[in-house]
Amino acid sequence: MPSESELQEVNIHSRMEKVDRKILIMSGKGGVGKSTVTVNLANALLDKGFTVGVLDTDIHGPNIPKMFGCEGAILQSTEDGSSILPVCPRPGLKVVSMSFALNDPDQAIIFRGPMKIGVIKQFLADVEWGTLDYLLIDSPPGTGDEQLAVCQSVPDLSGCILVTTPQQVAILDAKKSVNFARQLNADVIGIIENMSYLICPDCGKHIAVFGKDGGKNLCKEMNIPLLGEIPMELGLQQDEDLGVNWLEENPESESAKAFKAIADHIHSTVKFKHTPYEPSFSSCSPSACASCTANCSSKKS
Ligand SMILES: Nc1ncnc2c1ncn2[C@@H]1O[C@H](COP(=O)(O)OP(=O)(O)OP(=O)(O)O)[C@@H](O)[C@H]1O
Ligand SMILES: [Mg+2]
Repeated sequence: MPSESELQEVNIHSRMEKVDRKILIMSGKGGVGKSTVTVNLANALLDKGFTVGVLDTDIHGPNIPKMFGCEGAILQSTEDGSSILPVCPRPGLKVVSMSFALNDPDQAIIFRGPMKIGVIKQFLADVEWGTLDYLLIDSPPGTGDEQLAVCQSVPDLSGCILVTTPQQVAILDAKKSVNFARQLNADVIGIIENMSYLICPDCGKHIAVFGKDGGKNLCKEMNIPLLGEIPMELGLQQDEDLGVNWLEENPESESAKAFKAIADHIHSTVKFKHTPYEPSFSSCSPSACASCTANCSSKKS
C-alpha cells in the first residue's frame, strides 16, 4: 500500500495539473509588498477574465484574507469530507489561508518547520482548486520552509516573482531569493520593484523615498526581467485594510496601471508547463490503486 505521503504526492499532482500557471511570489525582506502584489495581480488577472487561485503560505502572518475583504471566513469541506473548499470572495477567485482555519484571527500560530510544510502540502493536495488559469502563491519573507515546500512540492511551478523596494537593504536580500530559486532550479520570472516612488498628493511630484533604480540595477546585474515599477500611493494601504479592490476603486491611478501592465506582461511571457507524471510506488497493488487518484497507465486492475 503506498504511504500517506506518496498518496499526498499523487493528490498534489492531480490537483495541480488542472492549474495552468503556478507562480510563487517571494522577497528577501519583509514588508516590501508581496501580499499587495499578490492581491492586485490576482484582481488584474480576474479583470482580464482569468480564473485565479491564491494560496497564502504565510502561516504566521496571513494578510491575504483581510486584503480580499474575506477575513473571518472559515474553510468548509465537501459533503463527503474528502476535500477542502476554498473561500471565493469574488467570481473566479479561490483563496486559501491558514487564517481561515482559526476561530480567533488574533490567535498566534506556533508551528515548527515540518508542521508548516505539512499544512502547505495539505492545502495543495486537499483543496478543491478545480481548473484554474493561475495559482498565485504568497509567501512570508526569506528563503525558508514555506518557499522550500512550494518549490519542492508544486509540480511544473511556472516560476518565482521577486518583490523588492529600491532600497539597498532590500536589494541585498532580493539577491538571496534569486540565488535560492536558481539553486532549486525554479525559473525567476522577474522582479517587481514596489514603492519605487511616492506620488505627492499635493503636487504630484515623484519622491524617491527608498532611493532610485535599485530594482533596475539588480535586474541588469542578475540578468532578470524587470516586470514593472509600482509607486507608493496614499490610499492603497487604507483600501487594503478595508478589503477594497484598489484596481476597481482607482483604475486610473499609476499603481493600478502598473499592476495591470505587469499582469499583461506575465500572461504573455509565462508559459504553461506540463510534465507527464507517472507515480512508481514500489508497493503499488490493486487495492492501493483503488484509492489512488493518479492517472497512471500502469494502474493494476
Ligand atoms: N505601492 C504601495 N503603496 C502604498 N502602500 C503600500 C504599497 N505596497 C505595499 N504597501 C503597504 O505596505 C505594507 C506592507 O505591504 P505588504 O503587507 O504587501 O508587504 P509584504 O511583503 O507582504 O509583508 P510581509 O513580509 O510581512 O508578508 C502594507 O501596509 C501595504 O498596505
Ligand atoms: Mg505578506
